[in-house]
Amino acid sequence: MLSTLMGRNQYLLRIPTFREGISLLAGRPLRWVPQLLGFILVIWYFGPIIRGGPPDDFIYELPPPIHHPHLPPLYKPPTASANDWKLRSHQVREAFIHSYKGYRDHAFPADELAPMSGKIHNNFNGWGVTVYDALDTMWIMGLSEYFDEAVKFIGEADYTTKPKQYAPFFETIIRHLGGLLSAYALSKDPILLQQADKMGAMLLPAFNTDSGLPAYAISTRTNATRGGWTGNTLWAEALSNQLEYKYLAHITGKPEYFEKAERCMQLMYEANVTDGIFPTQWNTKTGAPSNNKFSVGAFADSAHEYLLKQWLMTSRSETKIKDLYLNVSKSIIENLLYVTPSREMLYVTDADMLKPHPRKSEELPSTIKSGSTPTPSSVPSGTFEHLSCFLPGLLALGAQTLDLPASEKEIHAWAAEGLAYTCWLTYADTKTGLGPDVVSMKMFTKNEDGLWLPRVEKWKQQGRSGRPPGLREPGAATGKASRDYTIYKRSYLLRPEALESFYIMWRTTGDPVWRERGWTIFQAIEKYAKTEIGYASLVDVDKSSEKAPVKDEMPSYFLAETLKYLYLLFTDEELIPLDKWVLNTEAHPIPIFEWTDTEKKLFNIS
Ligand SMILES: *[C@@H]1O[C@H](CO)[C@@H](O)[C@H](O)[C@H]1NC(C)=O
Ligand SMILES: *[C@@H]1O[C@H](CO)[C@@H](O)[C@H](O)[C@H]1NC(C)=O
Repeated sequence: MLSTLMGRNQYLLRIPTFREGISLLAGRPLRWVPQLLGFILVIWYFGPIIRGGPPDDFIYELPPPIHHPHLPPLYKPPTASANDWKLRSHQVREAFIHSYKGYRDHAFPADELAPMSGKIHNNFNGWGVTVYDALDTMWIMGLSEYFDEAVKFIGEADYTTKPKQYAPFFETIIRHLGGLLSAYALSKDPILLQQADKMGAMLLPAFNTDSGLPAYAISTRTNATRGGWTGNTLWAEALSNQLEYKYLAHITGKPEYFEKAERCMQLMYEANVTDGIFPTQWNTKTGAPSNNKFSVGAFADSAHEYLLKQWLMTSRSETKIKDLYLNVSKSIIENLLYVTPSREMLYVTDADMLKPHPRKSEELPSTIKSGSTPTPSSVPSGTFEHLSCFLPGLLALGAQTLDLPASEKEIHAWAAEGLAYTCWLTYADTKTGLGPDVVSMKMFTKNEDGLWLPRVEKWKQQGRSGRPPGLREPGAATGKASRDYTIYKRSYLLRPEALESFYIMWRTTGDPVWRERGWTIFQAIEKYAKTEIGYASLVDVDKSSEKAPVKDEMPSYFLAETLKYLYLLFTDEELIPLDKWVLNTEAHPIPIFEWTDTEKKLFNIS
């Protein structure tokens, strides 16, 4: 290699002596200039290899994402110019400044701002949750003065709960700890690591239950724990701490963080749950499933996310988790995806599963015990929650990153697209252009007739003409009667899930229609939710008056998630590349890393 690069001028393989150099210069000065340049090039190119080891700022590279075919949308709005997007992202930044400034001026250091009255809410231990949740958004938006001020406040925090007070484990992990870890990963400020370690250690005794599943809440003063209203651990509570604790284990080297979080995973591997139907409630004492409900809504949602994202976070090395995700997502697609009778809107609901788990027969629903025919296998509720609108984004991320056979990949990608479109319709259909918290979908007379997957199979058999069922984009409804659903909870709580999925859809398909839809939603937020000092949740998204009534609440996730996803959606540059980061369920980015051999030994990772 070297000799071909050096060509005929073998003498340059040794460095010329000073005298030779002088004589060369004095003789034919221009003749050796190309050779000198070549020499510099070779040194530059091979230097790192000669020095040995990767450069200090080496970032783990994943295999490139696998691209898969997506259908072009039926309707393409005119796409804004690059400059329009720049202005739009700037407007989101202004919206963030407006809401954080309102919080800072009127509510700091309480948890949340009441954006109408200027009063405060201390609904999460009173540790200033808005600061923790907003921290990494400040960094991403380049608001360094707010960021530095926030880090100073955080550096002085103690995290000891007041007497008789309990910190809710799940919320504190995803909001406070997630915020600290992500801001640390972005800024590398050691204060944030120190505080994350401190908080992580203080919350850890929540796992000291008989099963190892976390308790609902913990007093960091006494280490006493408390159960939630169900007396059980929700599936979302059991599986929404692994991204945080595993990353914390990685940056502190402390095995206990890994072990406690992994214990919950272990219970899932050993639970003998049939067909990937992991129910919403788990017995905190025994660690066994304790109900028959299968859902991607409130009690389960982020557990689904943490399966795929754990696998991605540790560089696709823990295949057991991937298999679990594949199992569960298959089960969702088969059991929980339905279409409505008239508009053929694809939606995800929850269901009472009638297939028996390995459990005591007297606990089984009567339909199983008495009837000889075990069909139908489930009873769907028809409820579609805004919270479930994270699912299209997750399925799209899975379709992009998993090495699936083509036929499965397209099913995941289609489910993602159809569901994201339905989320969009629930916004587009209302008078304010904002989506309701829960809707009840109209169902077929025989529930099974609405199942999505058999319809797709039939469409395939009939020659795949037109677009698949559930992806035919019916357009916004002209009136309430033609909606194919009724609104069950009328509020819009400034929630992020639909925008989160639009962001992932845009990044994985490249289709700008998702950005345009996001822009339409942002304009509705500006019009209806903005107050003098912040942004407020809406009471009724379908109120015809010019200014819909609002609730005196500005949840911290509005700053952590809703505005972050909007900002990422409108920014051309991929600020948080999806092959380098995973976003926790509160939209806090955590870097993708590889376990070192030392860690594998220390944490007993197989
Ligand atoms: C709570 O548990 C931690 C260990 O996780 C321990 O260091 C601390 O002393 C305990 N506090 C009390 C009050 O028992
Ligand atoms: C699951 O099944 C395995 C093998 O049949 C058994 O050893 C294990 O005890 C079962 N686990 C539970 C939680 O029932």
